[in-house]
Amino acid sequence: MVPELEKATVHMKNPEHVKRVISALRKEGTDKLQVISDFDMTLSRFGFNGRRCPTSHNILDNSRVISEEGRKKLKDLLHYYYPIEIDPNRTMEEKCPLMVEWWTKAHDLLLQQKILKSDIAKIVRDSEVMLRDGVNAFFDQLHQHDIPLFIFSAGVGDVLEEVLRQAEVLHPNVTVVSNYMDFDDQGVLRQFKAPLIHTYNKNNRVLGKTEQFQQLSSRTNIVLLGDSMGDLSMADGVTDAENVLTVGFLNDKVDERRGKYRDAYDIVLEKDETLDVVNGILCYVL
Ligand code: TMP
Ligand code: MG
Repeated sequence: MVPELEKATVHMKNPEHVKRVISALRKEGTDKLQVISDFDMTLSRFGFNGRRCPTSHNILDNSRVISEEGRKKLKDLLHYYYPIEIDPNRTMEEKCPLMVEWWTKAHDLLLQQKILKSDIAKIVRDSEVMLRDGVNAFFDQLHQHDIPLFIFSAGVGDVLEEVLRQAEVLHPNVTVVSNYMDFDDQGVLRQFKAPLIHTYNKNNRVLGKTEQFQQLSSRTNIVLLGDSMGDLSMADGVTDAENVLTVGFLNDKVDERRGKYRDAYDIVLEKDETLDVVNGILCYVL
């Protein structure tokens, strides 16, 4: 059915369930289907040649527009909070206030740096960001078949949109909900727009009764892509969801987190830097 599911990186707790859902998605056609995806470390690569690739926040943190002192403070925050973010032994309830703390402190540091709107394109161009292999086929397939792609990201919206624009995949079927910057009349960053989205509040409450929420709730067959346990609530807003297939990229601390990921995601992709499996499923379904 989908030869890519035979890849060594693929792990499924219940392969029969996966087959059933994929068959239903194909049978029900394109009108009811949508893809909901995380951005950082899901559409973007986690690593390349043994080195970590940057998140949308890291693209800013590592850029020349940030002072040496600011960069050090942002790195210290990352080293303190990232292990908490991915710790399989802490509950989401425990993690939530700590994530709010991380995002708030990081955004406050970025606000001190006088970042210009007009610098974003160059910051992205000069960065080491990489999208996963197969990303063009992924975006192009969805665009061709008019399938909405809803990107729900706790990263920086302006930065990730620019990454997609430069990759020439920001097609009209793509909607992004993320942390967007607010610039003053001189084009200088003055604040981040509310609501704050962090790893563990990606759900219908943070979307509220927005246009994006309306759009999200109207298609009841879903392929959901994420790399964090927090990404699993991204489709919460679709209350009458029918067929949902969740695909989780397990990038880091694989041995410690394998059990929880296999219990939570229908398909787990361990250390797989490609979108091959997702593209194979879409090719079969569309
Ligand atoms: P995502 O929702 O698109 O995956 O983006 C969230 C990621 O951003 C999350 O995994 C942690 C990361 N992050 C940083 O790398 N630096 C930061 O300063 C913050 C606040 C988050
Ligand atoms: Mg992510």
